[in-house]
Amino acid sequence: MQRCGNLFEPLQLPCGLTLKNRIAKSAMSDSLGDGTGHPTAEQIRLYQRWAAGGLAVSIIGEVQLTAGYAENPGNLVLNDASDLDRFRRLARHGGANDTKLWLQLGHAGALAYAPTSNPKGPSALDLPGLRCVEMTLDEMRQLPSEFARTAWLAQQAGFGGVQIHAAHGFLLGQFLSPLFNKRSDEYGGPIANRMRPLLEAIEATRAAVGPDFPIAVKLNSSDQLEGGFDKEDALKVVAALDRSSVDLIDISGGTYFPGAKSASDGTGRGPYFLEFAKRARAVTTKPLMLTGGFKTRAQAEDAVASGAVDIVGLARALVLEPSLPDLWKADRKLEPFFPRFSDPPEGGVTAWYTMRLTEIGADKETPVFGDLGQATRDYEARNKSRTIIWLRHFANDVVGQT
Ligand SMILES: Cc1cc2nc3c(=O)[nH]c(=O)nc-3n(C[C@H](O)[C@H](O)[C@H](O)COP(=O)(O)O)c2cc1C
Repeated sequence: MQRCGNLFEPLQLPCGLTLKNRIAKSAMSDSLGDGTGHPTAEQIRLYQRWAAGGLAVSIIGEVQLTAGYAENPGNLVLNDASDLDRFRRLARHGGANDTKLWLQLGHAGALAYAPTSNPKGPSALDLPGLRCVEMTLDEMRQLPSEFARTAWLAQQAGFGGVQIHAAHGFLLGQFLSPLFNKRSDEYGGPIANRMRPLLEAIEATRAAVGPDFPIAVKLNSSDQLEGGFDKEDALKVVAALDRSSVDLIDISGGTYFPGAKSASDGTGRGPYFLEFAKRARAVTTKPLMLTGGFKTRAQAEDAVASGAVDIVGLARALVLEPSLPDLWKADRKLEPFFPRFSDPPEGGVTAWYTMRLTEIGADKETPVFGDLGQATRDYEARNKSRTIIWLRHFANDVVGQT
């Protein structure tokens, strides 16, 4: 594979698929599902606008395998109970303009949204704001087939690929972390065991979708928590992924564990995890994507030109400017204007960006930046109303069943 590339050069993945350039929209939970796990018109419009803006890959955040462990009641849920035609519309519009529209396959585990779930994780936890019970061995054995089924349905519905979510403290990331995972069976203890659920999910997914369908993995370079998943463990996971059938490793960092640092709230100078990507490059020949902190075209170009990174993942920059790839290509607007929030409440910045996505999907974003307190209130009010719909619709699924 070609290294030291140019941002606007195509890239071929191991499965044979060619991406038109090196810019991807990193997974963002847009919270625009209708409360029954299906896409809304605003959500379809949002992905249509991103596709029109010139991205090579667009990844839909946290699409749930089941209704039992969603991260938010605005998540999509894709399984045998879903209306596939409604997903087909999203796949068609969000995959226009030769943009590959992928679903990020999610299970929130201990971080499942408590009003619609009885959270389950690798081990039981009883901490302020974080309670869960331990997953049984039977549930562990069933998990890979849930990833495989949702991936297969994504393929049937016309999506271009999937990303298995093992980052930011959700279920597979919890298994990787010694802070969450205290198990003494084959899924706990040394990192070789803690990465087993991820490797089993990949294997089952590949068996379900065949050799030509892209499978990516999102992985933390570290959780940035003392005693948690660290860089040395992460390099061992990258080495194992190198031997697996994945097509792309998306490197990021940080978690949504209460009180912890998340990359989507990061304010420092990016890209945040480039040094780790350079170390990862030494242990894998798989294409690497790097997500976190990219603000300018120069940063993106330098990362790709360095040879350490094949694809640049953008989240907040594409909320601020959905057409950024085309603008960059045309030498216009090389850096979107990033708002600064002084002393934001926990989760406030993510809520603000999420509500901005709603505006884009409704074609009514205003040039001025709204207020963070109002965005948080709007976000919480919508979650409340979606929770009522979710509980009614998934009456049999939300009590913690897989
Ligand atoms: C509104 C919002 C929602 C997000 N949801 C997800 C998600 O569902 N899955 C995920 O892997 N990362 C999620 N992230 C994290 C981003 O993918 C990305 O890793 C992080 O924002 C850092 O990239 P950036 O500096 O380009 O924003 C989210 C970020 C934001 C701002």
